[in-house]
Amino acid sequence: MKKLFLFSLLLVFMAIMITCSKEEASQDPIPTPGFSFEGTSPIPPAQQRTGDAAAGYDYLVAGDYVSSGIPYGAFTLVSGTGDNFLNRTGDNADIPYEFTAVDAPNGIRVVAPNCMQCHAAKINDEFILGLGSHDYDFTKDQSDILPTASAVISSLYGGANSPEFQAYDPFRKAVEATAPYLVTETIGVNPADKIAAILAAHRDPWSLEWNDQPSEPISPLLIPTDVPAWWLLKKKNAMFYTAIGRDDFCRFMMSSSLLTMSDSTKARAVDDKFNDVLAFINSIEAPTYPFPINTTLAEQGERLYDDHCGGCHGSYGADASYPNLLVNLDRVGTDPMLSEAYQNQSLSGFINWFNDGWFSQNPGSAQLVSDGGYVAQPLDGIWATAPYLHNASVPTLEDLLNSTQRPTYWKRTYQSSDYDTEKVGWNYSTPDSKVDKKTYDTTLPGYGNQGHRFGDKLSSSERTALIEYLKTL
Ligand code: HEC
Ligand code: HEC
Repeated sequence: MKKLFLFSLLLVFMAIMITCSKEEASQDPIPTPGFSFEGTSPIPPAQQRTGDAAAGYDYLVAGDYVSSGIPYGAFTLVSGTGDNFLNRTGDNADIPYEFTAVDAPNGIRVVAPNCMQCHAAKINDEFILGLGSHDYDFTKDQSDILPTASAVISSLYGGANSPEFQAYDPFRKAVEATAPYLVTETIGVNPADKIAAILAAHRDPWSLEWNDQPSEPISPLLIPTDVPAWWLLKKKNAMFYTAIGRDDFCRFMMSSSLLTMSDSTKARAVDDKFNDVLAFINSIEAPTYPFPINTTLAEQGERLYDDHCGGCHGSYGADASYPNLLVNLDRVGTDPMLSEAYQNQSLSGFINWFNDGWFSQNPGSAQLVSDGGYVAQPLDGIWATAPYLHNASVPTLEDLLNSTQRPTYWKRTYQSSDYDTEKVGWNYSTPDSKVDKKTYDTTLPGYGNQGHRFGDKLSSSERTALIEYLKTL
């Protein structure tokens, strides 16, 4: 399990204190006998920027899109080196993959969090860049450690006016403003939507400059999500589970740098690099299922898939197609909270901030558009992306395809090799209640596991065949 990074820093900081004081798929819906498009609507395509994938990789793993963090010397005192999964060189070879050593605007070398905090993970002990993190621990308020971290950085480098402290300060402010609101109920779900909304409330919509006071009160409600795999993006016409991310994808991706960005001049410079990052993300292919597959069974499953699933999720093989459908809440029936949050007033401040500010500027304008419902995403590499649904509430494909079997409380070990090749997903136990932060409690608001009952009408042998086919995607 991925440790809270600030929490692990705390332990060593305390020690220091003591000692030193896509293929081109057609977009046409497939008309399947008996399949109804009721409750679905096609998401319109949008023009995307093109770029250089190799340059995008370099920027993703070593670029300064987040430009404030812990001074390099202080960070390496406390962090392990991590495995150099990304084959990075120089300073970056010696720090964990989810951080990048960059120069802050004042020239001080700092270590900043990068996209791989949430967009890289292991499965069956294999590290996969672009697999959404399924084990990040957001269950504690990470700002608890800030007083200690600040005291140590201040004492190591000569006070809060030192260049090192100044290089760390935007990061400190961002963690202080966001972390208290990002506490999830279970390990492995992600609060990224909330991070974006809070950072927006602290920034001017046009200059993007930071204000210590948010423009509106921050709601304590946190709606958990999973993290989509990056290899799906090339097929999609809109970003995010709710398809709210319309028009320019690069613009949405670079919004992560709002964490520590100084102003709109820096935003423009970062934005210019993201056409390459998009090209890299679009070059990522889904990982192949690493265990044996029963091909006879998978062929039976393919027919079932085409009849019951492909109309929404797209078809594979020679005439592959992906229809890019948004499915309304009545039809899909899954936990409504995330979709509703973008439709009711609670996020209107954020939506206006985004749609009527710097992010809406051409070239490369982006818009948040909330039509309600969830995307029927492509199922490429679906074997690797448990748990399932937008809120990660269902541990295996078998449970997803049989709604009566889904566990109300389920608990996993977070070992990436504790994987079930029959049900396809995580091994789990079923406690009677939420016993700890490793228990997923589907009775909590936003954590519901209802809906998506499209597999219920299949027999259990049909389900087995269908799952065998899904392993091949
Ligand atoms: C704190 C965790 C976190 C970080 C850091 C993060 N992301 Fe994400 N990302 C998410 C989550 C969660 C979603 C899905 C949110 C949703 O759909 O509501 C997401 C969605 C996306 C998507 C949309 C995928 C799709 O298929 O719709 C892309 C692309 C993406 N992120 C790229 C990036 C890039 C590039 C960076 C770094 C600049 C980054 N992300 C940093 C958590 C994160
Ligand atoms: C009417 C359209 C529709 C049909 C038919 C349909 N699905 Fe889905 N499916 C969706 C939507 C929408 C979601 C996203 C729901 C959510 O995340 O809340 C989804 C989610 C999923 C997921 C989870 C994806 C993830 O990354 O978590 C899987 C797996 C899946 N469907 C498989 C299937 C299979 C197999 C079938 C056929 C038995 C099927 N679906 C039939 C619309 C559909």
